Amino acid sequence: MERSIIIAPSVLSADFSDIRGALSQIEHSGTSWVHLDVMDGMFVPNITFGAKFIKDIRPCTSLFFDAHLMVEEPSRFIEEFAKAGCDCITVHTEACKDIKATLDLIRSFGIKCGLTVKPDTPVTDLKDYLDDLDLVLIMSVNPGFGGQGLIPETLDKVRWLHDVRGSRRYLISIDGGVNLKTISAVAESGVDVAVAGSAYFNAPDKTLFVRKMSSGQGENS
Ligand code: DX5
Ligand code: ZN
Repeated sequence: MERSIIIAPSVLSADFSDIRGALSQIEHSGTSWVHLDVMDGMFVPNITFGAKFIKDIRPCTSLFFDAHLMVEEPSRFIEEFAKAGCDCITVHTEACKDIKATLDLIRSFGIKCGLTVKPDTPVTDLKDYLDDLDLVLIMSVNPGFGGQGLIPETLDKVRWLHDVRGSRRYLISIDGGVNLKTISAVAESGVDVAVAGSAYFNAPDKTLFVRKMSSGQGENS
């Protein structure tokens, strides 16, 4: 059967002065997800946008809102982000005081919940939560900025998550440095979802880009 990886373009690399145009471009390029990188300048050394931005763009599109919260103690903001229209909220193990309570809070709003780890955090830190997760995100760069190179060792974490999944429902996602050159190794490791920021927005033909990326063959397709 042909491989089909969900491609989640990250608006981090979009021109925020034309966010409507970027969302419409994503919809028309043949994918149904958009990745929303929320950064607070504390957990990561960069600031992007908050729940108001997400609430304002919600009526512009029916794309699946895959929110990645790079914020300290995200439980403070879960209600606001859920009500803004996120379909899935992913939080960092390193940022939560109480990981289980934060995941329960996300689920209490009837949306999907995800958990992620930075490149230096062992994947086994996710072990106790796997039964209840809809998404597990492996950071393949140190979070904060788009356009960095993928750290190859992080693919071992994807392989581990793939091997231990069994009948659990979680999707495995990867974020950082995913492009036409790296996608084949990423696909072989067993991901279901690939976030692409700079590679997507730099691609001259976005429909072709999504097609090549979701086949998992990239440049070889
Ligand atoms: C990094 C963000 C990523 C970023 C990926 O902190 O979480 O989602 O946008 O960008 P690229 O694809 O350019 O590495
Ligand atoms: Zn992200």
